[in-house]
Amino acid sequence: MCGIVGYVGAREAVGVILDGLRRLEYRGYDSAGVAVLTGDGLARRRAEGKLRNLEQSLSAEPLAGHFGVGHTRWATHGRPSEENAHPHTDCTGGLVVVHNGIIENYLPLKARLQAAGHRFVTQTDTEVVAHLVESLYQGSLEQAARAALRELEGMYALVLMHRDEPGLLIGARQGPPMVVGLGDGEHFLASDVPALLAYTRDIAFLGDGEMAVVRGDRAALSRLDGTSVELRPQRIAWDPVQAEKGGFRHFMLKEIHEQPRAVRDTLLGRIGLEQGEVHVEELGPAAEALRKVERVTLLACGTSWHAALVGKFLLEQIAQVPAEVDYGSEFRYRQPLVGAGTLAVGISQSGETADTLAAFREAVGRGATGVAICNVQGSMLTREAAGTLLTHAGPEIGVASTKAFTSQLVALGLLALQLGRLKGTLSADACREHLVGLTRVPHLMEQSLAGLERQAEELSRELVHATDFLYLGRGIHYPIALEGALKMKEISYIHAEGYPAGEMKHGPIALIDERLPVVALLPRGRGREKMLSNVQEVKARGGRVIAVNAGPDDDLRGVLELRDAVLTVPEAEEMWSPLLMTLPLQLLAYHVAVRAGRDVDQPRNLAKSVTVE
Ligand code: AGP
Repeated sequence: MCGIVGYVGAREAVGVILDGLRRLEYRGYDSAGVAVLTGDGLARRRAEGKLRNLEQSLSAEPLAGHFGVGHTRWATHGRPSEENAHPHTDCTGGLVVVHNGIIENYLPLKARLQAAGHRFVTQTDTEVVAHLVESLYQGSLEQAARAALRELEGMYALVLMHRDEPGLLIGARQGPPMVVGLGDGEHFLASDVPALLAYTRDIAFLGDGEMAVVRGDRAALSRLDGTSVELRPQRIAWDPVQAEKGGFRHFMLKEIHEQPRAVRDTLLGRIGLEQGEVHVEELGPAAEALRKVERVTLLACGTSWHAALVGKFLLEQIAQVPAEVDYGSEFRYRQPLVGAGTLAVGISQSGETADTLAAFREAVGRGATGVAICNVQGSMLTREAAGTLLTHAGPEIGVASTKAFTSQLVALGLLALQLGRLKGTLSADACREHLVGLTRVPHLMEQSLAGLERQAEELSRELVHATDFLYLGRGIHYPIALEGALKMKEISYIHAEGYPAGEMKHGPIALIDERLPVVALLPRGRGREKMLSNVQEVKARGGRVIAVNAGPDDDLRGVLELRDAVLTVPEAEEMWSPLLMTLPLQLLAYHVAVRAGRDVDQPRNLAKSVTVE
């Protein structure tokens, strides 16, 4: 998934573009490039590898101009190289395009254009767009773009510019996100909000099938057939600093420590403690549908799928509503039995994950009421949902999701409480009791983060040498074992597996030896006794245990040895205990990855949001 920035105004375009691309680098990065209209015409500069390679090239040979586009690439078609880096041009070199997504019909289009004499120089799907627009260009880039876009099939967010129409940017969206930034005498196009916050907080989001015509002094939205669309800028509350590292070494560490605030902000204005009530206003028309809900299907990918697994427990135990969980990438291939009585909940930090969007559309298309739990206002998932329960985690820049995950758990808790109250399956007193437990979580997080971080950093000294990890959890904590394993493998590149603890004796126990660290989640209450037995089974086979333990560890004494470890988290109500159990697992993965010298915020092969299927 790629990063795009376009600028037109009075500033030097290269500075604005590079600044914006830096804030988008988490979206994907194997090459980068810019194109600027200079005094000598349309100049292009590209570089393979990290953005800094492009910056070095531009500082050696600057490009001066007030109108241009830039791009960071995460390759889908064509290997990462300078030649395949965007922007791509037409035969004349006077028209450039930057693109995020996949043009699914690029091969027949390319064959047709080559037969008409167009000369291609890359293996990318994107280059087809430049030649297609060129073939339709008769002096109006807007018209040529409209005609060309109607021929494209697939997913795209793209920006076009032409040397013969200085000051005009054309943006278009079908799938991956695109936003318009509105400034005073200057306008911007970008893939995502953080790219623009240093310049403007007035942002409008393009919808699917919409095109933006942008000049220094104005911007307009329309559909491909030319019908205008109201430009509805939103005032984005995130300030530029918030989207920066705030003094932490990595975005990921900053975001781990932002979780108390993210949880507080996600609760803000949505609960009535005294009355034992929850009111999620933004659910809008979907709130009425909640009363008639017979079952819930939770759709997500990756870490958000782990949140969905916790959500199943919350919905079934708090609201007494059957809930099932499906991978976004699997759901639509199993002829799902979904109907009017189903509430489909799409869970996504970015709101742009193609697999989750596709599953969500499948469920809604089969008659379900679609609700989004999402961290990005205006993203595609929120635009397609009948109602949205926004997580207010703020921009999550680190590729490994942390504060968005715990905020999703809070949002799922609120949904379960709201559903229980609306359906009459949860009394006000019981709701109040759950809310008291939930509102204590931010403080418990604040109380424990610093100590857990010190322990995790200390443990990482040895754990960095491990070649495998096994994470064990039961019940509502089994998804947390999965999440802890995903965190470890996606940023440290060390293999890690999450397992329901009860399943260990059905296979994984064969893995146990003194080299394999076993992370065991030991909450208070249900399942603790059995978890203690699992810990003893591991110890009996010489295994090393890292116990994530809620509350006093008196029943662990005599079980663990000096080489084992205990990471103590505060005790919380069972429903909310996952919010606390997750913290040490995030910190463990972070410090092992740092010690392993990994690119923690931008792990290899990963992108922050996977907008291709
Ligand atoms: C999270 O640590 C991963 N980077 C990844 O699994 C992510 O959760 C997944 O791609 C879903 O993203 P979304 O929440 O933006 O839909």
